[in-house]
Amino acid sequence: EPITAPDISTCVASTKGFQAKNAVRTNACCPPALSKSVKPFVFPNDQAIRIRPAAHRATPEYIAKYKAAIQAMRDLPDDHPHSFIQQAKIHCAYCNGGYSQIASGFPEKELQIHNSWLFFPFHRWYLYFYERILGKLINDPTFALPYWNWDNPSGMNLPAFFEDEGKKNPAFDAYRNVNHLAPAIVDINYGGVDTGTPCIQQIGTNLSLMYKQMVRNAGDPLSFFGGTYKAGDDAKANNDPSVGSVEAGCHTAVHRWVGDPRMPNSEDMGNFYSAGYDPVFYVHHANVDRMWKVWKDLGIRGHTEPKDPDWLNASYVFYDENQELVRVYNKDCVRLDKLKYDYQFAPLPWLQNRA
Ligand code: C2O
Repeated sequence: EPITAPDISTCVASTKGFQAKNAVRTNACCPPALSKSVKPFVFPNDQAIRIRPAAHRATPEYIAKYKAAIQAMRDLPDDHPHSFIQQAKIHCAYCNGGYSQIASGFPEKELQIHNSWLFFPFHRWYLYFYERILGKLINDPTFALPYWNWDNPSGMNLPAFFEDEGKKNPAFDAYRNVNHLAPAIVDINYGGVDTGTPCIQQIGTNLSLMYKQMVRNAGDPLSFFGGTYKAGDDAKANNDPSVGSVEAGCHTAVHRWVGDPRMPNSEDMGNFYSAGYDPVFYVHHANVDRMWKVWKDLGIRGHTEPKDPDWLNASYVFYDENQELVRVYNKDCVRLDKLKYDYQFAPLPWLQNRA
């Protein structure tokens, strides 16, 4: 049977995966109970396709729009389902023990959307609603999230607009590793220690790792998406060998690289419960999501989504851009054309890095 996210009324305070005693973010991560009924998802009928731009190539006009949207989100009251804090809490609830598998008949089992084949589809849906909410807040139905193009040498720094103008910038977050601001080159193999690798060499290492995680070690659905996770299964640990190549690799390394090592739980990006409080999270995950599209578009045999009904029918519940609760299924997030967004083209220099 597939994993089925329960009704939000069953949500409890999150306690797993961080030290609540020293936490700088709350463990009360449950969504506000505005509505009781959960509606089925309906595909959008937008006229335009939202095109997500590469962050390092975004125009000043676009950056101003992005910041205005984030500011509008921050300005909402905290208990509004579209508020900055509620959006951040979604991650904490789904990743730090807020939900159980009660809807699939296993109330004693944790529901965890990491470390398995739920990773890509859950985060795709999460960003889908986040993007539409931001667009609605600034009245722009074409608004699209930027993606942090860390797989490309020209995008391997933290994008500048997260830092410029300092603390009055809505995209700023105080809990980041200050040694990793531009011009530091991201280490997509980061394990918590700066290696001091010269930047030219770091770029080469990153490209080789991308090739490995996108091609060599990602030749079939489960290697790329991650191992199966079905109703009744225990959540897997992040060092489980079945974790998908990108999730275990560049995805987690970038989280840890951005998080603040001075903080007790590597807040914000370095821990699930707090990651959503850093606007970088969504821009990082836009590129993770883009990796799914790129992997598929490579057209290599084996590069297809899982066909198991327990993957296709796994589902989650989100507040949509109209503050309605909707249930969404993995099977409905496979086609970007139906979700009405896409990614601006960027070269894939790692395709040549078989070394
Ligand atoms: Cu839900 Cu990047 O983690």
